[in-house]
Amino acid sequence: MSMMQERQMESPLHFLPRLSAILDREIWMKRDDANGDILTVGNKKRKLQYLLTDAIRNGADTVITTGGLNSNHARATAAMAIQLGLKPILVLGGHKPENKSGNYLLNHYMGVDVVFSGASTQKEMGQALNQQAEKVKAEGLRPYVIGVGGSNGLGSLGYVDAYYELKEQAAEKRVQFDWLFASAGSGGTIAGLIYGCYLHKDATRIVGVSSWLKTADIKIQIESCLHEAASLKDDERKLQLDHLPVYLHDEYIGEGYGYPTDGGMEALHLLASKEAILLDHVYTAKAMAGCIDYIRKEIVKPAEKVLFWHTGGTPGLFAISG
Ligand SMILES: Cc1ncc(COP(=O)(O)O)c(C=O)c1O
Repeated sequence: MSMMQERQMESPLHFLPRLSAILDREIWMKRDDANGDILTVGNKKRKLQYLLTDAIRNGADTVITTGGLNSNHARATAAMAIQLGLKPILVLGGHKPENKSGNYLLNHYMGVDVVFSGASTQKEMGQALNQQAEKVKAEGLRPYVIGVGGSNGLGSLGYVDAYYELKEQAAEKRVQFDWLFASAGSGGTIAGLIYGCYLHKDATRIVGVSSWLKTADIKIQIESCLHEAASLKDDERKLQLDHLPVYLHDEYIGEGYGYPTDGGMEALHLLASKEAILLDHVYTAKAMAGCIDYIRKEIVKPAEKVLFWHTGGTPGLFAISG
């Protein structure tokens, strides 16, 4: 990974004493919301380290990506591109809003070029992204295009590394996890974790809580990332999620992407008030709602140890009012 490898990758792993006492389970958190220097880039940092290294290797001078108005991925891509001397262009779905808040406000502070495509589906967003790439190519720039969420095999390798990092930290702290909970959006994060867990031959059960896609659709995305990531490691296996200890859920989404849910807001208040840790309403609060539900339903048994992977997203929280 050349120049990007120099960056400090570790995020803290720690026990959550007060939440554990309340829920009567041993609960730990991996803090990718607290992974360093660049504008709270959360889980995107690990994927983007691979993707932006590839951009530089391919001689790009511009990075173009897409997402919704309040996309963490788009803002994180812009932040990391700036630090590498690349020009970020964001092709956001929907239309220009009257007021700026959350990630969109941060894009404004960073002086990023934002184009509103009017797109509402993932397919339309992809089309708008490619059109913009053609446009800037015609203007003489050398763009590198990153699809929704930076979720492809290459990006997922960042989370294979992350699983290795977790294993080292867990060994130091003498803890083994029976369950791992994480949010799943475009699927790249959890795909990397699943592959990392598989390569370690761990029996940890991984629960992915979808933030917008139906279970069948997120499954397709995760398997596609898994297969691509494996082939980048010259691994011919085509892992099937049905044969792995992986559980995917779409029932914590509520009304839809970005809409707060009661369970999510309960989780958000609980973590903030008992551990002084902020979740975001779009991803991590819903994932934590899933984790709490598993515990309350005793699917997670009393002696079992839980890891919650915090994937960041804090700036997105400042796009809603209380
Ligand atoms: C804060 C946060 N958590 C989780 C996710 C989901 O990650 P992935 O898209 O890799 O599934 C995202 C992605 O958009 C995110 O911004």
